[in-house]
Amino acid sequence: ARLAVLRGGHSMERDVSLATGRRIQHALERLGHEVFPMDVEDSTTGRLMELEPEAVFVCLHGPGGEDGTVQALLETLGIPYTGSGPLSSIRCMDKDYAKRALAAAGLPTPRFYTFFRRAMNEMGAAAALNVAADSLGYPLVVKPAREGSSFGLSRVEGPDGLLDAVYEAFGYDAKILLERWVEGREVSVPILEPAGEAPRALGLVEIRPREGAYNFQAKYTPGMTDFAIPAEIPEETAARLEETALAVYRTLGCSGFARVDTIIEGETPQVLDVKTIPGFTETSTFPLAAEAAGLSFERLVEIILDSTLR
Ligand code: DAL
Repeated sequence: ARLAVLRGGHSMERDVSLATGRRIQHALERLGHEVFPMDVEDSTTGRLMELEPEAVFVCLHGPGGEDGTVQALLETLGIPYTGSGPLSSIRCMDKDYAKRALAAAGLPTPRFYTFFRRAMNEMGAAAALNVAADSLGYPLVVKPAREGSSFGLSRVEGPDGLLDAVYEAFGYDAKILLERWVEGREVSVPILEPAGEAPRALGLVEIRPREGAYNFQAKYTPGMTDFAIPAEIPEETAARLEETALAVYRTLGCSGFARVDTIIEGETPQVLDVKTIPGFTETSTFPLAAEAAGLSFERLVEIILDSTLR
């Protein structure tokens, strides 16, 4: 088919998107498709109208691509595209919206408070931050509401570090979250929904950074993180995790594919985040899980593309 691959864009995760896009473009070419890679820029709408692709493979991460904006454009143009629709994309990109929806559905996600940059000049803002932090307890996590790849995220050990972390996160987004720290194994659940089939977990990927946190460096430098596939967790916990991840996928209205990121606290999978366009780089968990499940990268890409054209 004649396909466009959207990649790059303006978000902090531009380079990750270029890497994801390149890999997907090459796989689509090996599958025999005619592929037109496109960086997202002002002329994207015109170029898409000119090209009239049969479908668009969206390889964008972060705001301006994974957040429903491009998906709404493609809906308007009437071009089929991979992954989730605009509403689900907006909801998943914004951890504030996503976590509220999960909590309302009774799904486990760590307790949190939301703060807006514009409110930081108001009287009592610092006190409100401290009240929230004290209620969550230390250590806690501060993160931008709409970012990926750990940009702007800090673990705060005590009250002295709170303001710095808050300003760091506000450097990335006008809305931030203070979230309870969860101690446990970090496990990602890649979910695939082939055309005409129910969504299923591709496997459970346990993430073990060799040193410290699973931050940007640990995510994208080969050899800095080890993975256990399947995760080394008791069978019952694994079953519960899989069930929870699929419920998260349905609750947030995802389609095609998505990745649910959790930390297993005791026996409870606490859901931190859902990615509607997870990375497909050499070190990303989604393609690693597919490979462990016996799906080649090409086959994975083909299944996602087919789910678009249904
Ligand atoms: N946001 C990056 C691409 C990921 O989570 O894989």
